[in-house]
Amino acid sequence: MSITEELKATAKAMVAEGKGILAADESFGTANKRFQKLGIPQTEEMRRAYREMLFTSTGMNKFISGVILFDETIRQSTKEGVPFTKVLLKAGIIPGIKLDAGAKPLAGAPQELITEGLDGLRERIAEYYNMGARFAKWRAVITIGEKIPSKLCLQANADALARYAALCIEGGLVPIVEPEVLMDGNQTIAQSLEVHQETLHTVFERLYLYRVPFEQMILKPSMVISGTDCAEQASVEDVAQLTVKCLLDCVPSSVPGCVFLSGGQSDQLATAHLNAMNVIFKGKLPWTLSFSYGRALQQAAMQTWLGKDANVTAAQKAFSMRAQLNSAAALGQYSSEMEKIASNN
Ligand code: 13P
Repeated sequence: MSITEELKATAKAMVAEGKGILAADESFGTANKRFQKLGIPQTEEMRRAYREMLFTSTGMNKFISGVILFDETIRQSTKEGVPFTKVLLKAGIIPGIKLDAGAKPLAGAPQELITEGLDGLRERIAEYYNMGARFAKWRAVITIGEKIPSKLCLQANADALARYAALCIEGGLVPIVEPEVLMDGNQTIAQSLEVHQETLHTVFERLYLYRVPFEQMILKPSMVISGTDCAEQASVEDVAQLTVKCLLDCVPSSVPGCVFLSGGQSDQLATAHLNAMNVIFKGKLPWTLSFSYGRALQQAAMQTWLGKDANVTAAQKAFSMRAQLNSAAALGQYSSEMEKIASNN
């Protein structure tokens, strides 16, 4: 298979029917912060054991097409010494890798962030490809506030996303392009829509300029949603309607799929929003709409695990349950009744 054919096939497989992506690429800082909150020791071994718990959950491959790994994780193995990449590949799950080096203050725009990690990226991509990775992720962060996002922030981040994506294509990795518009703030859903539209237009204009073939990439958008401090919280139906309107306005139809981040939404709301989009727009969309959740897939499992071997089976059950419910949402077949049934099992 040519590299182009391989990239197209991988992108399609990432958004296979009823499947989504597990984002398990928390950096040291993020992983440790979540462990600390639950009283789990913040060590390399605990991070390894936690990821082993997730990756060896039985039946995960029915709902999960790929897993995004962090640099530390892609080099780790199970207790028995089997590399995580092998565990995933054996289960028919595609290993992916986080390539960005995090968001830092943007010079000239002190309230805003720019994602770093372009230096030496070509060489890192080659190394990860050889380790078995077939897709990658780069997250840009867009903040809504007074007079922000600025054009500077949108354009600088879009440029970095496009340069990253072009390097991925050259090196054989399907780029997940993730411009996250944060939910923090008191913005209305209408303001969120406006910022999402400007963000996505800027990103796709840059992807085009950098000659990124749209059918070889995946978009990871945030949902168009009311700010967390907004007095009026939009309904599930409004979030679904405006999110899809925005994507229809901005995302070329040759992109195979959009996989949402959860961004701090509760587990159930993230699932309900995705489901509503797939119910309302069934048969009317050019791309697949699925999930690439971090917190909304892992929260329940981590709270059950708590760093204890004795809790592994129960934690795996909690994880599989969320994966199954999100798989149902990707098909537009979820209902809140299923939450009760699943938790009673
Ligand atoms: P959340 O679903 O927790 O937002 O994480 C997804 C992700 O990969 C953020 O980059």
